[in-house]
This record gives sequence, C-alpha cells and structure tokens, in this order.
Amino acid sequence: MNKVGYYKRNSLPLEMHKVCIVQKTSILPVEDRVKAIRRAGFNSYRLESDECYLDMLTDSGVNAMSNEQLGAMMIGDDAYAGSVTYRKLSQKIKEIFNKDYFLPVHQGRACEHMLALAYVKPGKLVPMNFQFGTSIGKIRYCGGDYIICLQEEGFDKQSGNPFKGDFDLAKLERILQEERDRIAFVRIEAGTNLIGGQPIALDNMLAAAELCKKYGVLSVLDASLLQDNLHFIKTREEAYMDMSIREITRILSDAMDIIYFSARKLGFGRGGAIILNDEKEFEHIKTFVSSFEGFPTFGGMSVKEMEAIRVGLDDTMDENIIAQGPQFIEYLCNELEDAGIPVVTPPGGLGCHLDALKFVPHIPRNQYPAGALQSAVYIASGARGMERGSIDEPWDDPEVEPYGAMELVRLAVPRRVYTISQMNYLIDRICWLYDNRELIGGLKYDTEGPHQFYAPLNSISDWPEVLAAKFREDFGESL
Ligand SMILES: Cc1ncc(COP(=O)(O)O)c(C=O)c1O
Repeated sequence: MNKVGYYKRNSLPLEMHKVCIVQKTSILPVEDRVKAIRRAGFNSYRLESDECYLDMLTDSGVNAMSNEQLGAMMIGDDAYAGSVTYRKLSQKIKEIFNKDYFLPVHQGRACEHMLALAYVKPGKLVPMNFQFGTSIGKIRYCGGDYIICLQEEGFDKQSGNPFKGDFDLAKLERILQEERDRIAFVRIEAGTNLIGGQPIALDNMLAAAELCKKYGVLSVLDASLLQDNLHFIKTREEAYMDMSIREITRILSDAMDIIYFSARKLGFGRGGAIILNDEKEFEHIKTFVSSFEGFPTFGGMSVKEMEAIRVGLDDTMDENIIAQGPQFIEYLCNELEDAGIPVVTPPGGLGCHLDALKFVPHIPRNQYPAGALQSAVYIASGARGMERGSIDEPWDDPEVEPYGAMELVRLAVPRRVYTISQMNYLIDRICWLYDNRELIGGLKYDTEGPHQFYAPLNSISDWPEVLAAKFREDFGESL
C-alpha cells in the first residue's frame, strides 16, 4: 500500500492516479442552497445533482473509471449469445475468485432477487450479520424473513473494534441448530453498509462459512463492498497482513458457496454478478436470470459495462487503488473527530458517518435528527449526504412509524472522484456547522405515513433561513 512519508508537512492520503477527464462542478450561494433543499422537501434524494457541489449521496455507480476501463468499453462484443465479452469476464472472475460459473445481472439487488427466487420460500429464514434494504426486500417479497446476527459491539457507534461487522458466531450457530430446516442460506455482508461501512474479519467470515458447512446450508457472500473490506483485512487483521489482496480474496472465495456483488461498487462499473462452483445450482439460478434479467451472457447489463467491470476487477486487486477510498474516509473522520465532531469510529469503508444523535441532541427522534442534519450539511457546504436513520427505515406495520437503529448522516466518498482539497473544504464547513448546531431544527412530514425514504418533508420553523443568515454573517460574500 502507498506508504509515502512527508518531510515537513503533515502526512496526507496520496492519490495513486492522475486525472484525465474532469466534470465541471460549481457551488450555489447559500440562499440558493436553502431554496434547493426546501424545493427538494429536505430530502437529499430529491436534489438535482447540479445543485450539489460534492455529491456524496452514495458510492454506487459513481466511482471514477480508469482510462483502461474506458478503452475496454470500446471493444465490447454485443453478440446476444456466444459473446466474447461474457467469456472474457467469466475468465477474469475465474482468475480472481476461482469460481467456474458466472451469471450477469443488471445490478446488486437483481442478484438478491435471483437468489431469493431460487432459495426463499414462505416461512424460510436468512441469518445475516446485518441487513441491507435491498437484500431483505427480496427475501420478504418471497415470503421469508431474516435474522440479524451482528456482534453486540457492531451497534456501538464509537468503538475501537476494527471489525464491527463480525457475526456473533454463537448466535449464528444457535440459529443454525434450532432452525436448520427453515434456513434458505446464510448471508455474509462484507463490509457492512448500514452500520457505517464497517468491515468483517476474514477469520469471522471463514468461521461463519464453516458453520454453514457443518449444518449443511449455503453460505452466500454479498461482496458489494468487498473492495474496502479487503483493504481492512490487509491492514487490520494480523494473520493476513503479509498476504496479497489476491491471496486474501482467494481464501475468502474458496470458503463461500455463492458470491454476488453490485458492480456499481465492486469493479468500478455498473452491473451485478452471481458466481458459484456448483453446476446444478448455477442451472437453477440461470432459469430466473433468463426470465427476469436477460439472456445469461449479459443478464440486462450492457457489454460495455461488462468490459469495464473486467478491467475494474483487476484494479480491485491492486492495493494502492483500493486503499484510496478508506484513506480518504479515515482522513475525513479523523479530522472531524479531532475537532470534537461525533462520527462513527473506527473509520470504515464507503463513507464518513456523522452521528446525528450527538451532533444535534436537541432534536427529538420524531423530528428526524439525521434528516435535519443532512439538510443542514447541504446548506452549509453544498455537499449532499444520505440520511441513514428513521426516514430511511421501512414501515413494517403501516400503523407504527419505525425508528432507525441509528441516526446517521452518511457522506459517501465515491472512489477516485474527489480531491483532498475538496475534503478539506467539507471539513471546514462541517466544523462551522457544528459550532452553530443549535440553529439546526427538526423536520416533519406534511402527509400521513407510511412514507417512502424518498418522500418530501418540511422544516419545523424557518431554521434553514436562520442558519443561512448566520452563514452569510460569518462568511460575508463567500460561497
Ligand atoms: C451491501 C450491499 N448489498 C447490495 C446492494 C445493492 O446493490 P445495487 O444498488 O447495485 O442494487 C448494495 C447497494 O448499496 C449494498 O451496499
């Protein structure tokens, strides 16, 4: 990994790429940012991307591609069947994951859809270290349910545990013993999105897979966030520090029955993949891919994207490339933490997560602290993050509004997209916001629930305008 020392200046994460194509961006004046977030119903999903100076909503499908990926996209083979592009991507997957069979689908949730159709029947159960919205959606749609087996420390927002995404293995084994006949498969999410992109240790995943073998159930790895997780195994897990990323990937892959991933994240592209070794299971899942996604040589993906993923997967095996995201996130988290701002620790993958319950403790939970903070971050900086709290929580019971397990604002760091100076700008604006946090007020819905996570809200009082006026007072003419 890039370990470049500095002579006089403080050490900074150092990009191991140079920019060849750029996209123009601009910052709206603070008054226009208030108008934009108001028009968007205080919901960052509803902002236009050209209203955002830093688009940190997600890392999905927004990672910068390399010149080699763009070049490869020009040689995609559009043949419906017998496609050379499919063959080349299958070979790359075999080389990296040592799995014989590969089914392309249009994105990560399509993998989850196919697996749920293949294995989840009414009454079936899927144990997992933690849930992700799209994963449980498909399981429930097929009449099954899920059960979370995350270790207790995974729920601690501030912790020194390097692998908060680990399974509570005793709980997993108890479920496997007691519910053996109901288990569709065990889902292992590496890293763990909704608890702050926190990684799971390789030893823990191997132990979970071993338990699956012992009880005769399928182990299924959700490798969508594997890129960051591989970096953390290499840098935090003693036993694997001397191994290459390829060797670590191979050990993990060999232990799993099925691997799937969103290639909007892993592989710097846009698409999805299901990979496995068992021919019978492959044929079984393939029938669903043919019916719902596309012919099994492209499964709804464009061949251009398949070529980009082939090259992107190679990049994923390069330590310098995969270190960039986690190093930027670590920088962001450490700088904010040093300024006394509550963030989820230790820094994980995917993005930096602000802890809204500590940032704005005066906002009650029924006024959506994470949603309010996300809007305030936008007003202060023009950066849009994502609410990861009660607004995002699906309503199981239409009569009872759910609270999220956490109230976080995720500032995703799309890989290779932003620079350190842009991160420094954001840190500065969040520091200003923290000093003025008492001006941030709550949000409310103007309509009865249940609400979808992208539904519009309204501000309680004119706090956005008051916050903007204070910004103008402190920053003068500055954007
Ligand atoms: C862990 C995990 N699994 C699955 C998905 C779904 O992938 P997609 O957005 O490509 O459907 C995501 C997307 O954020 C994810 O983070």
